[in-house]
Amino acid sequence: MTKASLRDIPSTDLIGRQVLVRADLNVPIKDGRITDDTRVRETLPTLRLLKDGGARTVVISHMGRPEGPDPGLSLQRVAGLLGDSIGGTVRFHPDLVGPGARAAVLALDNSEVLVLENTRFDAGETRNTPELARALADLVDHPPDGVFVNDAFGAAHRAHASTTGVADEMRRRGGSAVAGLLLDKELKVLESLLCKPKQPFVGILGGAKVSGKVETIRALLPRVDRLLVGGAMANTFLRALGLELGQSLLEEDKVELCHGILRDAGDRIVLPVDCLVAKSIEDGAAVRVVPRDSVQPDDCIGDIGPASRELFGGLLSDGRTVFWNGPMGVFEVPAFREGTIAMARSVATATDLGALTVVGGGDSAAALNMAHVADKVAHVSTGGGASLEFLGGEQLPGVAALSDR
Ligand code: 3PG
Repeated sequence: MTKASLRDIPSTDLIGRQVLVRADLNVPIKDGRITDDTRVRETLPTLRLLKDGGARTVVISHMGRPEGPDPGLSLQRVAGLLGDSIGGTVRFHPDLVGPGARAAVLALDNSEVLVLENTRFDAGETRNTPELARALADLVDHPPDGVFVNDAFGAAHRAHASTTGVADEMRRRGGSAVAGLLLDKELKVLESLLCKPKQPFVGILGGAKVSGKVETIRALLPRVDRLLVGGAMANTFLRALGLELGQSLLEEDKVELCHGILRDAGDRIVLPVDCLVAKSIEDGAAVRVVPRDSVQPDDCIGDIGPASRELFGGLLSDGRTVFWNGPMGVFEVPAFREGTIAMARSVATATDLGALTVVGGGDSAAALNMAHVADKVAHVSTGGGASLEFLGGEQLPGVAALSDR
């Protein structure tokens, strides 16, 4: 990577320094409990390196998409989890910026960690206001003493005050803005998919919509040997083949686009050959397996069928490089989960057979966990949207704003 990294700072230079870390602690919370701590665990190497080096670490992150302050999305709970995971003192302060937050930073001892409140409680975050960027930079000592580290790969595709604004501001003040260990690792793995991936390279894309993944499809097609498409986005491609899809979710306004992609891609795009249908997508509904050309006008497609699972699994087992993003069906409804779980198992098998396997996106990662194969994948990205944009050839603003090496 051409951007500066935390590893470029000698550990002996960290003692006593105030380091502002933008992490992605956007963990799912249900009934007040954190249901998946992956993102917290993945940022621990950066926080441990800083702690072990004696830095005074200030962590900022967004959580959820609040319109303003929302107690249900406070980072206090996450600060508690960080304390349990990292050991030592992890403090929390209920402000993001301002005199109270600065006083909390000044009260830190070497090797202590402070978590500040959700960046999205401040309206300046998503609007990337210079005021908030300056206030964030003011949290730590003036550069070169204060340092900004961006470890939030999952938010690197957002040009927000806590990702790009503060990085620009720290550089403007003569300081540096560097990549954390997680951000660095994610970029290296994803770069290896774009630059000379081992062939055959098999991509698997799923999820509801083609829109949002068009650039990724276009960027992947020249690189992959096969692109397997599932989920409701496959419906839009199937419609482009002229098939009856009943009441199934699809994007009529993208059918023409899919038609063009299919024409250009030839047999590199592989679509489901059968599907699981029901009259409504809910647990307890009577489900049937039908060939893709036998969907009835009152059917909804909820998942790929067994023949598609076998077809996709067989193609995956040939892969030397595999990238997977997005579920194969309505994964959140247990009756329509099998296709996605089968994909998780097939990706794990591909790893066993020697493939470099990379998975991105919350549902795909959850499927790996459900299938108990999360440790059988070479890399599970913490950024679904960010990894798609990166593979789509877009420059991630959070990375572009970092100092050059
Ligand atoms: C994610 O969950 O993908 C990241 O944390 C980014 O969150 P956002 O989509 O709300 O910006």
